[in-house]
Amino acid sequence: MDTLHPDLHQLYPEHLATLKARADTALQRGGFDHLVITAGRAPCQFLDDRPYPFAVNPHFKHWLPVTKAPGSWLVYTPGQRPKLAYLQPHDYWHVVPEAPAGYWTPHFDIVIIREAKEARAHLPKDAGRCAIIGEASAALDGFAPNNPQAVLDDLHYQRAYKTLYELALMRVANKIGTRAHRVAEAAFRAGESEFDINIAYMAAARQTDNELPYGNIVALNEHGAVLHYTELGHAPPTHAHSFLIDAGASFHGYASDITRTYAASNAGGFQALIDAVDAAQQDFCAKVRAGQSYPELHIHAHHALAGILKDQGFIRMSAESAVESGVSGVFFPHGLGHLIGLQVHDVAGFQASASGGTLAKPPGHPYLRLTRALEPGMVVTIEPGLYFVDMLLAELKTKPAAKDIDWAKVDTFRKYGGIRIEDDVVCTEAEPENLTRAAFAQVP
Ligand code: GLY
Ligand code: MN
Ligand code: MN
Repeated sequence: MDTLHPDLHQLYPEHLATLKARADTALQRGGFDHLVITAGRAPCQFLDDRPYPFAVNPHFKHWLPVTKAPGSWLVYTPGQRPKLAYLQPHDYWHVVPEAPAGYWTPHFDIVIIREAKEARAHLPKDAGRCAIIGEASAALDGFAPNNPQAVLDDLHYQRAYKTLYELALMRVANKIGTRAHRVAEAAFRAGESEFDINIAYMAAARQTDNELPYGNIVALNEHGAVLHYTELGHAPPTHAHSFLIDAGASFHGYASDITRTYAASNAGGFQALIDAVDAAQQDFCAKVRAGQSYPELHIHAHHALAGILKDQGFIRMSAESAVESGVSGVFFPHGLGHLIGLQVHDVAGFQASASGGTLAKPPGHPYLRLTRALEPGMVVTIEPGLYFVDMLLAELKTKPAAKDIDWAKVDTFRKYGGIRIEDDVVCTEAEPENLTRAAFAQVP
């Protein structure tokens, strides 16, 4: 897959230098001498010998593109080369992690260990001088993660600013995801079930569900109204009216997060509603600019989406009163988006500064995941939607605003479920870079 990005050799050293500089500051802030990061373990299920799927510590994969090395540890001491204790067990039952290889290896001192407990000999002697980042289950004798808040706050805050290397990886994650999206759309057009569309997606992405950055949402018809629909109907519906797919891909530990919605036909007005949301979404993406307050963009999206509801005859009140009365929130009941990177919902979306603190969400918008102002290097999703959610519509019916809703029209749209359009967008010094649209444009 590196053939997609032959320049990683060139980009990685600057990424590593940035992480070292950030770690230097974070350690100073916390009063520690070493940053120690455990990849994590894969604990077994209760009363069973089957492990849960392994999910690597995001701090670990920030430093190196290794996502399948449970039991490995990374040590960084300011001024020194980082050290990797890499667990490659002697084991003929399982596939053991591959020997370290690739563009990042010349930058580390690597020791191979054969048992998890051997790592201790390669970690600093005095655990009290270490910021040890990871899950409690990774603890070794006398060496347990302490996750100091001051260090985490600093590292998490800085993580929002992606290096050129990280952006290159996220471009690839978008290329893989958009290719698979095209295949999924074709499967929908061919009348396949949610289950089979999902299989087609994973086959095209060449990723299993444990490798994907989150559980795919593959929703036909009214299932699109369930925001986190992760069931997979095995039989196609009698009539497929609509298809909402929220599915990403991973590359070297970085995520893409992509949603598209399709109408089965141009009749019935659903395609027109998709087109309007799509145009609004592109307008929001264009506002991903340095200095833009993300909560203000979210509120702007409420006004724009309420305008669409009015233009298309779902509501009779003004867009302003739809936002004020909470009607826009019935149809758009989630946040406009979030930071993305090593985790699909990346950390520190609410963080006021590198030393912590919280930027409050706007009142009445509890599901917004990002309250920071946008700055160059941040990657955010822009994912507006309009949905016909039975539960929320039933509540709205009991409110005074109900008289200004065209319920007959709303009822004819319940069978479509909803619309979401989601791209991953980089804030730069100038024009935003839409990773997802650029990748879709390159799919044959
Ligand atoms: N796929 C989860 C989200 O869009 O946030
Ligand atoms: Mn998202
Ligand atoms: Mn998504």
